[in-house]
Amino acid sequence: MAAIALAMLLPSLALAEKWAVIAAGSQGFMNYRHQADACHAYQIMLKSGVKAENIILMMQDDVAKSSENPFPGQLFNKPGNDSPDVYKGCKVDYSGDIVTAQLFLDVLTSNTTGAKGKVLKSTEEDTVFVNFVDHGGPGIVAFPNGPFLHVKDLSKTLKTMQSKKMFKQLVFYMEACESGSMFPDLQADGKILAVTASNGQESSWGTYCGDAAMVKGKNIGSCLGDLFSVNWMEDDDLGKLASETFRSQISKVTKLTNKSHVCSFGDKSFENEAIGDVEVEGAVLSETPSTDSSVDTRDIYVSQAFWAWQNVPEEMKSQAWTRFVSIINDRERDDQLFAKIGGKACADSQGPAECQKKMLDERSELKDMDCHYTLARAVHEHCPVSASHHATGGWNGYNMKFSQVLLNLCEGQEVLGKDLEQLSKIVQEECIQAKGLTEVVI
Ligand SMILES: *[C@@H]1O[C@H](CO)[C@@H](O)[C@H](O)[C@H]1NC(C)=O
Ligand SMILES: *[C@@H]1O[C@H](CO)[C@@H](O)[C@H](O)[C@H]1NC(C)=O
Repeated sequence: MAAIALAMLLPSLALAEKWAVIAAGSQGFMNYRHQADACHAYQIMLKSGVKAENIILMMQDDVAKSSENPFPGQLFNKPGNDSPDVYKGCKVDYSGDIVTAQLFLDVLTSNTTGAKGKVLKSTEEDTVFVNFVDHGGPGIVAFPNGPFLHVKDLSKTLKTMQSKKMFKQLVFYMEACESGSMFPDLQADGKILAVTASNGQESSWGTYCGDAAMVKGKNIGSCLGDLFSVNWMEDDDLGKLASETFRSQISKVTKLTNKSHVCSFGDKSFENEAIGDVEVEGAVLSETPSTDSSVDTRDIYVSQAFWAWQNVPEEMKSQAWTRFVSIINDRERDDQLFAKIGGKACADSQGPAECQKKMLDERSELKDMDCHYTLARAVHEHCPVSASHHATGGWNGYNMKFSQVLLNLCEGQEVLGKDLEQLSKIVQEECIQAKGLTEVVI
């Protein structure tokens, strides 16, 4: 009684709350798995007792209703006859073309000028769980509309949240290629723990792909999940969260995610706390061991398109083949484009061929964030848009790996004898030229 009275007198002593922000960064049926992962995460949050009004979910929301979906209005995150429909009750707060990187940042920082709906209103007593799933590359992750999210903006946003005292603990699970590059400067005592699907130099993996994407007797025709996401969520589904610690989940998930290196960054001081305290107290669902149906994210478009060509009925073969070929062509164009950018940047160096090879293959560390941001923006704005990859700017799920080339150029400015302005011009010119060629070919 006394406590209640005190709480009424001092509203600031309100009980600690749990919050969750979940974002899927892609669109298109070929990216089915990201929205299935996101809705599954939503379900886990809800079952664990995070209040529905404290969960903010953003995704394009075009997959459940896609004409390609064999189960209209439903999404599945794992195969099987008893696979639950994760779309049922999955409440999407922001959908369609307003889902951008800026919106994600505005929601996190409670900026209601930018986000015209639910925003994170957590306090310094609260725990916050953030989950992002999508394509990425060194220093960047994709959103379904507008430009990518750059590491420098994410880093600034996390600092803003810290200074606005928006959490007691924040746990960020990120699934994307090279996602280990997105948290370069978390402090050991900053109360932020980030766990990523891969290190800064490798792909993450989709899973339940091809023949394995079978639900209730039908093949979905797209991968059902991503390996890291499915592994942590199926672990949560086992319902041991009240007692399981982050350290033990991370170590289990690291073992299961055996195609890439799960990494953790930042404040590990609460790794030994039970997950249920921060994240959830899961419901008990059936355990399905992950099968080895995983595909490197970079190759999912091409391998699914090939799978589709093999499996569609005869009358649809030629359409499926055309799609497969256009994906191959777009990949080749991107390979050539970034090779040319590297070549041109190296034109004035001592050994141009050797220099070009270095720019394409090297794995320099991202230091000059402003330079990298400028070049990555140039690609978004000026490079050809790959319709076969559902891209909205010059980046797509395949070519984001070449973000590393831009990074190498930035770190190599001295050797190349070129400043940012010159590099930026090269990227722009090559992009515009590649676009012109594409248009001529079509
Ligand atoms: C708030 O959101 C608007 C719109 O996205 C943005 O232009 C502005 O910079 C944001 N303010 C802060 C402080 O981040
Ligand atoms: C990775 O894990 C899967 C599922 O547990 C297993 O089938 C596969 O053999 C493992 N692969 C390697 C290379 O360890």
